[in-house]
Amino acid sequence: MTQDYILSTNSLTKEFKGFTAVDDVNLNIERGTIHALIGPNGAGKTTCFNLLTKFLTPTRGTILFNGKDITHKTPTDIAKMGMVRSFQISAVFPHLSVMDNVRIALQRKTGTSFHFWKSDKTLDVLNDRAMELLEEVGLGKWADTITVEMPYGRKRALELATTLALEPELLLLDEPTQGMGHEDVERVMHLIKKVSAGRTILMVEHNLHVVSSLSDRITVLQRGAVLTEGPYEEVSQNPQVREAYMGTEAAGSEAA
Ligand SMILES: Nc1ncnc2c1ncn2[C@@H]1O[C@H](COP(=O)(O)OP(=O)(O)OP(=O)(O)O)[C@@H](O)[C@H]1O
Ligand SMILES: [Mg+2]
Repeated sequence: MTQDYILSTNSLTKEFKGFTAVDDVNLNIERGTIHALIGPNGAGKTTCFNLLTKFLTPTRGTILFNGKDITHKTPTDIAKMGMVRSFQISAVFPHLSVMDNVRIALQRKTGTSFHFWKSDKTLDVLNDRAMELLEEVGLGKWADTITVEMPYGRKRALELATTLALEPELLLLDEPTQGMGHEDVERVMHLIKKVSAGRTILMVEHNLHVVSSLSDRITVLQRGAVLTEGPYEEVSQNPQVREAYMGTEAAGSEAA
């Protein structure tokens, strides 16, 4: 049986002045799954993520999205193809309302940028879809709030709504719960689970509670290379993984 991979890398490598940060990585992300990229500090997670999202150019290797070679595409190119990176703080306008932020994202998608008042009908369709997206991420009640006035966790939900406006097939999340308190972490976890329906999600995440609760599969990086790959139960029992995490986070422990 052949697997249906939405994203694959072949010998993906990134060198910085002779130092190999990502070393011959072969990743396969199965369509419809939540896949986590983990590893101890300095393992190469961020570098790998930046290669996948086209923020960095690989030294060697190739990246395939839906079978197409995207190694030399730009972030904008791949966004149009359906591969979108979320949770970049800069992605929302702090002094606009929550609703306006989603409307702008929707217009970016349709290419009618900033023509808010084109016609009543366009406006209605836009408003309806924006409200739908806000409801999806639990921000219905916050529509008229000025973004900067929302708590941190809610801002991240808004970022997710603006990303979903682009209708991603593959959603790339960079540390989605970073810097959050317990309540926000739980909320964002539910949100990720919810928006994963009908999509594929690849996330870099430090919080092993989040990783173990959400991920179908996990790739563990160590010193730039893939240490192991599999479901959490398997990966967390791997002695090398346990050793790699010793003194940082306790992979496999119930409390993790
Ligand atoms: N631009 C750069 N120039 C030189 N070395 C770099 C650069 N970016 C990353 N590195 C090095 O590559 C290695 C991997 O870094 P990376 O940030 O990808 O790790 P990480 O797994 O994201 O770590 P963390 O858990 O601390 O976020 C580190 O040793 C880092 O110092
Ligand atoms: Mg990092």
